[in-house]
Amino acid sequence: MKKLRVLIVGSAFAADLHADAYSRIGEKVQIVGISGRDLDRVHALAERYGFTDYKAYDDYDQAIAECDCDLVDICLPNFLHHEVTIKALNRGRDVICEKPMATTVEDAQDMVDTAARLDKRIYYAEDWLFAPAFRKAMEILESGKVGRPLYVRARECHSGSHSPYAQKIEYCGGGSMIHLGVHPVCFLLAMKNNEWAELVAMTSGGKEDNLVHHGMEGEDWAGAFIRFKDGTFATLEANYVTVGGMEDMMDIYCEEGCIHVDLSFSGPIRAFSIPGLDYTVEKAEVTTGWSTPAVDEKQNLGYCGEIEHFVDCALKGIDAEVGLRGIDGLETMKVINLIYKSAREGISIRNES
Ligand SMILES: NC(=O)c1ccc[n+]([C@@H]2O[C@H](COP(=O)([O-])OP(=O)(O)OC[C@H]3O[C@@H](n4cnc5c(N)ncnc54)[C@H](O)[C@@H]3O)[C@@H](O)[C@H]2O)c1
Repeated sequence: MKKLRVLIVGSAFAADLHADAYSRIGEKVQIVGISGRDLDRVHALAERYGFTDYKAYDDYDQAIAECDCDLVDICLPNFLHHEVTIKALNRGRDVICEKPMATTVEDAQDMVDTAARLDKRIYYAEDWLFAPAFRKAMEILESGKVGRPLYVRARECHSGSHSPYAQKIEYCGGGSMIHLGVHPVCFLLAMKNNEWAELVAMTSGGKEDNLVHHGMEGEDWAGAFIRFKDGTFATLEANYVTVGGMEDMMDIYCEEGCIHVDLSFSGPIRAFSIPGLDYTVEKAEVTTGWSTPAVDEKQNLGYCGEIEHFVDCALKGIDAEVGLRGIDGLETMKVINLIYKSAREGISIRNES
């Protein structure tokens, strides 16, 4: 069977999530190149996941120009997604792009247009759509056994980004809404086929007008209400003021039932440690006392499923599922942009399209 040849660009946090996922499907994929500014980190990543026949690059331009691959997986800070995607598409490669698509709607639009013109695909890495618990929730909804959804409350929140690029809007496009809210926004748009009707939002003001992160230009608290065209209401939250580990949660209230999903804290294990465990859940500040250590966190957060889906699609030369295509990343950017506009101008915004 032909294997998909992948060049991973970036060797930090997101690259680690993807590399783990590739290492689980070695029969379908071959990592032929890894690029990162620090070659020690590149080799450490490869060693961690058992990649051997790869070429290491410390420059992504050189990597894209020289590496003989089918797909470029972009695990770089947000401000580089546009430039590197365009370069990879022009080199004739399909692309996996981490969230958010770009730092501006214009750049995201350019990425989608370029892919269409060159007949290449952008796979938009929204892991929530492959989180097994969220997929199970969708299966229950589709079974009709809880009735029509009336109201959804969804959030991703934690205590702050580990990335230095998250501090400046120029590098990342905003604050907690573009970094974290991007997940529930994309998930709900996919659930409702992008058919939203009206939104209204509020955010903290950045810097001194933030609740906690006064060095950060973007907001550290954001909330939005969205009404969809089918009448479903949603509350979306994204903040950096949540201590105790990352919260990825969704509550779906329906005509004849409800569904509650907690991706981070609902594992089967409870542990108590006086000195503290090595690791419990993403972004937990302390690991002492009682905890619910995550069991295969990367699988449960959806990274493994999304990567396998992209590999399968790229091998067949087809688009990803709804929610995971370049145009879905673009639609998510458009809605996030309007959430920021609503918060800035204190207005409710209707979808005229
Ligand atoms: N889906 C998720 O849940 C999830 C989780 C974490 C990160 N991400 C996304 O993944 C992307 C990468 O984030 P990250 O957390 O891995 O770390 P990061 O943004 O700090 O950096 C990633 C990599 O980019 C390299 N890099 C930075 N600036 C560069 C430059 N000018 N030239 C070349 N290389 C450069 C760094 O050396 C590092 O290897 C971001 O877009 C982020 O939003 C997604």
